[in-house]
Amino acid sequence: MSKSQRPRRSCLAVPGSSPKMIEKAKGLDADQVFLDLEDACAPLAKPGARKTIVAALNEGGWGSKIRVVRVNDLTTHWTYRDVVEVVEGAGENLDCIMLPKVQSAAQIAWLDLTLTQIEKTMGFEVGRIGIEAQIEDAAGLINVDEIAAASARTETIIFGPADFMASINMKSLVIGEQPPGYEIGDAFHYPLMRILMAARANGLQAIDGPYVQIRNVDGFRQVAGRAAALGYDGKWVLHPGQIEAANHTFSPAQADYDHAENILAAYEWFTSDRGGRKGAVMLGDEMIDEASRKMALVIAGQGRAAGM
Ligand code: GLV
Ligand code: MG
Repeated sequence: MSKSQRPRRSCLAVPGSSPKMIEKAKGLDADQVFLDLEDACAPLAKPGARKTIVAALNEGGWGSKIRVVRVNDLTTHWTYRDVVEVVEGAGENLDCIMLPKVQSAAQIAWLDLTLTQIEKTMGFEVGRIGIEAQIEDAAGLINVDEIAAASARTETIIFGPADFMASINMKSLVIGEQPPGYEIGDAFHYPLMRILMAARANGLQAIDGPYVQIRNVDGFRQVAGRAAALGYDGKWVLHPGQIEAANHTFSPAQADYDHAENILAAYEWFTSDRGGRKGAVMLGDEMIDEASRKMALVIAGQGRAAGM
């Protein structure tokens, strides 16, 4: 599996300023953890949080989790110090830097070059650290094609519903839920689909952002289920109670996984020398062809990655 295709069904947000929450996160069942220097970390706490994060990454104990740090966005004065301190201090124990509120390809190019300089200076493997780009406003969404193509380091494009809702003046205070008054469809369909197209056209994963009603796990399942149905690879989780729901929602149902494996096995047998078929074949009442095989490969691949 290429590094950008590692499962990210659940991406756990943890404030970089809280050693207690960071310690707890190590034992949770999330596919990815991101230690936050941005919005979950107050301005005065940021310098200390950089040090806490470096220590926690170097200490280890993260198992197979993808280890990510979210730095501050490039309209602030914190970004360069976030990147330099965290990557110089813990670059060998870190998988990706997440850049929030990305508005242009140039911002990704800046991060790519900065990472290369730090890797060379420190003697780290050049190009190993990946980038996760958050799309959180109109400028980012309009430029998402160029953003997704800007660096070979980029692994995921992430939709940030909270900042996105604020930036376009969406009339709602409930992050990730449909805005009241818009009863004719899904108000997030356009940004979600736009991001998914840019991600897929560049071989990247697409990740949905947070759902803040942390006690409403059914609501989480519903919103996550919509993203999963479109083709999203995973979603942020803000609380341990959302992790199992995310892992389940972004894995195929057992029956679908079994069916996908059956399609692959049948198609392979029928089109082999022994099966002798040259085109579409029947599996029960279903006609399967090369396109069915590709669809089955997606579900089977997700199931195998989830250990089904
Ligand atoms: C996440 O950062 C969001 O703004 O939703
Ligand atoms: Mg945000």
